[in-house]
Amino acid sequence: MSTQLIVSPSQGQSQSEAAGARPSSGCLMVIFGASGDLTKRLLMPALYNLACDQLLPTSFAVIGIARDAWTTAEFRERMARDLKQFSTRKQFDQAVCDAFVQRLHYTPGSFDDPQAFARLAQLTEQLDAELGTDGNLLFYMATPPVVFGLISSRLVEAGFQKRTRGWQRVIVEKPFGHDLASAIELNREILKHWREEQIYRIDHYLGKETVQNILAFRFSNGIFEPLWNKHFVDHIQFTVAESVGVEGRGSYYERSGVLRDMIQNHMFQMLAYVCMEPPSSFQPNAIRDGKARLLEAIRVMKPEEIDQYTVRGQYGPGRKPDGSPVTAYRAEADVNPQSATETFAALKLFIDNWRWEGVPIYLRSGKSLWKRGTEIVVEFKKAPEVIFRGTAVDHLDTNRLIFHIQPDQGIELRFHTKVPGPTLQLQPVNMRFSYGEAFRAGRGTGYEVLIYNCMIGDATLFSRTDLVETAWRIAQPIMDGWAAKQPEDFPNYAAGSWGPLKSCELIENDGRKWTEIINREVLAKVPLFHTCDPVLLNVLVMLLKPVTFSAGDVIIRRGETGQEMYVLCRGEVEVLDAQDKRIATLKDGDFFGEIGLLLAQPRTATIRAVTSCDLFILEKASFAKALEDHPQFAQAITETAHKRYQVQTPS
Ligand code: NDP
Ligand code: BG6
Repeated sequence: MSTQLIVSPSQGQSQSEAAGARPSSGCLMVIFGASGDLTKRLLMPALYNLACDQLLPTSFAVIGIARDAWTTAEFRERMARDLKQFSTRKQFDQAVCDAFVQRLHYTPGSFDDPQAFARLAQLTEQLDAELGTDGNLLFYMATPPVVFGLISSRLVEAGFQKRTRGWQRVIVEKPFGHDLASAIELNREILKHWREEQIYRIDHYLGKETVQNILAFRFSNGIFEPLWNKHFVDHIQFTVAESVGVEGRGSYYERSGVLRDMIQNHMFQMLAYVCMEPPSSFQPNAIRDGKARLLEAIRVMKPEEIDQYTVRGQYGPGRKPDGSPVTAYRAEADVNPQSATETFAALKLFIDNWRWEGVPIYLRSGKSLWKRGTEIVVEFKKAPEVIFRGTAVDHLDTNRLIFHIQPDQGIELRFHTKVPGPTLQLQPVNMRFSYGEAFRAGRGTGYEVLIYNCMIGDATLFSRTDLVETAWRIAQPIMDGWAAKQPEDFPNYAAGSWGPLKSCELIENDGRKWTEIINREVLAKVPLFHTCDPVLLNVLVMLLKPVTFSAGDVIIRRGETGQEMYVLCRGEVEVLDAQDKRIATLKDGDFFGEIGLLLAQPRTATIRAVTSCDLFILEKASFAKALEDHPQFAQAITETAHKRYQVQTPS
């Protein structure tokens, strides 16, 4: 099912025009660290996107500063080349690019050199006079945080603070500290030179449309707010899975780990959006107050709770989703071969306020996992199963509202519906809104909206000092607890897998399961599903349930009554006969357990995991329904069963 677009931009009108966006007043943007990776990969493409959408002011220029002894001409040439490589737009507009690079300037210099800042002061005055930017200055710290204080003092010495015309704002990049103490110190250093309202701390997750939409969705739709509390919500899950490893950033990652890199910032921001109280308005401080109050209400873990409420993991060797080999984290460049840095973490948090009392919030994130996907699942309490007694319905699933943040972008509601026919049978179905279908906005970097908002002076999407420090207060005891106890089981998950087994236990011990969002690409890896029609594929993504086994675990025991079929996503299992002799080995993409269901007989063989395995389960009732409704699926299953075990299956 898809949603209907009610209001859409008219023909030829861009999404930003439709949203009433206008360029800010003129300004100069100074990028410190303009020779770095962030500038070429994200900032320049974002500025170019703003130029394409006519959202850069007419009076505007960028001044890059870094140590490389480039001229303005060289800088322009490099940026023009990099733009072609890193542009996110489907079609590259050479004319816009040519005009844009003419707005770029460069001045070389080290941040400890006062002369470099004197030259910068002169250049800003000259360009301000030429372009009429009214003295407005946006400073972008695209540098490591250790030099933020140095740059700020040099700007003061060069007289920037004495200027009285226009506004001055500073964008600060993450990481905002390494722990609570360093974050407090960094904030103290920055606040020595800038007023809070001049500081724009970037968290690029807040630049993502789908993250911004959480607030719009919650507070512009009257139907959800009454349900958004402990009376109706069973729990909430946040997942940020990355299929990439540390990608050459070993030395940075060794000092960071996933808790600092992803959870303490990006995931806590999303958590605040999903769980905050309704603000009194959409004014920046109303939103920022709401977020800060929510994070303040998160229960800070006691040292003795760390083992119970957290899981950490590190990837060992394995395979990428495309099958190519991946080395273990400890074998990556610039990584200690005995590293205790976590590349995966899962947490269970509680929010101690009236609304969320007792509702567990599960978060997990990791590198080198089976897929890239950021999702938030709000799982509602079950309807009473008891009223279905005496019908064919043997259990009910919960209703789930799923925010697909990336790479799929949309919102999905999962619920039950009656299967057409004379008896009462239920099937999970979904309603889904997809950004791609509803809007035609170009894919951005996420930085466009952040830079634009800073230019117009809207700080809603940026982190305030109190929020940053509160987020560290939640993370600090976990970091301390982990630092005090060396992990004994690292590496504890294979690259390309679903993460450490213990992360499943964290949630399963509470009688819940992670909702694995299965997409078409995942199903495409299983040959059995290749012949399935699109309707069945749609159903399967909701019916398949994830399960993980360790090497040596018995998955199916001979003689037991079969309740489900298994699809092996990753790993190897052996099929054993009555004498425990191996009669077959099954690998990625294979399925098993179908015979017991097809013949309605006890299991004919034992199946044991040879390696750790990630599997999907298709439960008996869903299996039977899929066979009944989808003849091609039934044919594929029975043919394989026939070939594999020479059994005659009922037609
Ligand atoms: P790089 O190391 O690639 O670039 C750093 C830049 O700062 C270089 O231009 C470097 O110049 C300059 N620099 C550092 N010290 C000095 C100094 N003393 N004097 C003059 N120039 C100096 O880092 P990134 O661009 O990757 O990252 C910048 C910031 O952005 C970091 O805080 C990072 O955490 C953050 N970030 C980066 C992301 C990315 O995708 N790259 C994503 C999100 C955040 P030189 O080459 O001469 O040393
Ligand atoms: C960055 C982290 O902040 O976010 C990276 O430093 C991570 O390690 C990245 O890969 C993920 O961002 P995104 O937008 O790809 O989810």
